[in-house]
Amino acid sequence: MTDILQLHPRTQLQCSLKGIYLKLNLHQIAAPSELFMYANYISSVDGRIALRDAESGEYMVPDSIANKRDWRLYQELAAQADVMITSARYFRQLAIGKAQDLLPVGTAPEYTDLTEWRAQQGLNPQPDVVIISNSLELPARALAQLHDRRVIVCTSEQADDKKVNQLKASGLTVLIAGHQQVEGKQLKQQLIEFGYRSAYMIAGPAVHHTLISEQVLDHLFLTTRLNLLAGDAFHTILNGNMSATELELLSLYLDTDISSQQLFAQYRLKR
Ligand SMILES: NC(=O)c1ccc[n+]([C@@H]2O[C@H](COP(=O)([O-])OP(=O)(O)OC[C@H]3O[C@@H](n4cnc5c(N)ncnc54)[C@H](OP(=O)(O)O)[C@@H]3O)[C@@H](O)[C@H]2O)c1
Repeated sequence: MTDILQLHPRTQLQCSLKGIYLKLNLHQIAAPSELFMYANYISSVDGRIALRDAESGEYMVPDSIANKRDWRLYQELAAQADVMITSARYFRQLAIGKAQDLLPVGTAPEYTDLTEWRAQQGLNPQPDVVIISNSLELPARALAQLHDRRVIVCTSEQADDKKVNQLKASGLTVLIAGHQQVEGKQLKQQLIEFGYRSAYMIAGPAVHHTLISEQVLDHLFLTTRLNLLAGDAFHTILNGNMSATELELLSLYLDTDISSQQLFAQYRLKR
């Protein structure tokens, strides 16, 4: 089905959803001894990426923006990653059954092409995982679900030594990459030393700020679901303070699927 309209660059090209991000070969972009880092969000037009659930008090991606077509692209981006960067919050939600999904690449039949693609590209079946945390409040039962890949916990010099030792004893790698909190440049350097060439950041606004404020994020993928959510308790894609960062639009698609009209944008962060 050709229900995707390419708006930029202006080719007037109609195409199908499958493959529009996979064709980017993000795992091959980094120069030798470099790392290509990219982030991805889905947002409403009024900028909400998560709303607070009145019952649980947890911030969640609302069903009114999440959809399977965007999830396909999320999976395509994951397929191109050597490592995925996430937050401790994700694992806390996973432990109580509130996380969106176990980290991709998905094992459902509709994603078989992506697991096969990874094998053809010589990539591990699943990207490794880096968890950013100062508190090191990481439930063991959630971490245990990622037994099939390397899991690295990245923290700062403020971390509790006892918790660091416990995590190491359970087989995890623990990195110190910052003084008060994890710092973007130190994180990037340590990931390069591990030999990673592509890193996909899927955490929320604080980790995003950590990467952008230190100019280590390369591309931002942003899906804008064409709806308005309102609500006063919400997250947007970025928090904290920093000087303005200019973006260059690399590509823009309109998903004309009637059930989930949305825009898929890819930006380069200017340095
Ligand atoms: N719609 C979307 O596309 C999308 C995408 C991502 C997330 N979300 C939603 O956004 C909400 C917030 O996500 P999130 O909690 O993952 O976001 P976050 O604000 O990026 O991460 C929060 C946690 O990450 C750790 N952290 C962040 N920066 C750090 C640093 N520089 N150094 C050390 N630790 C750091 C801290 O963990 P500790 O407390 O353990 O120290 C902090 O509590 C969630 O509801 C999530 O579902 C939506």
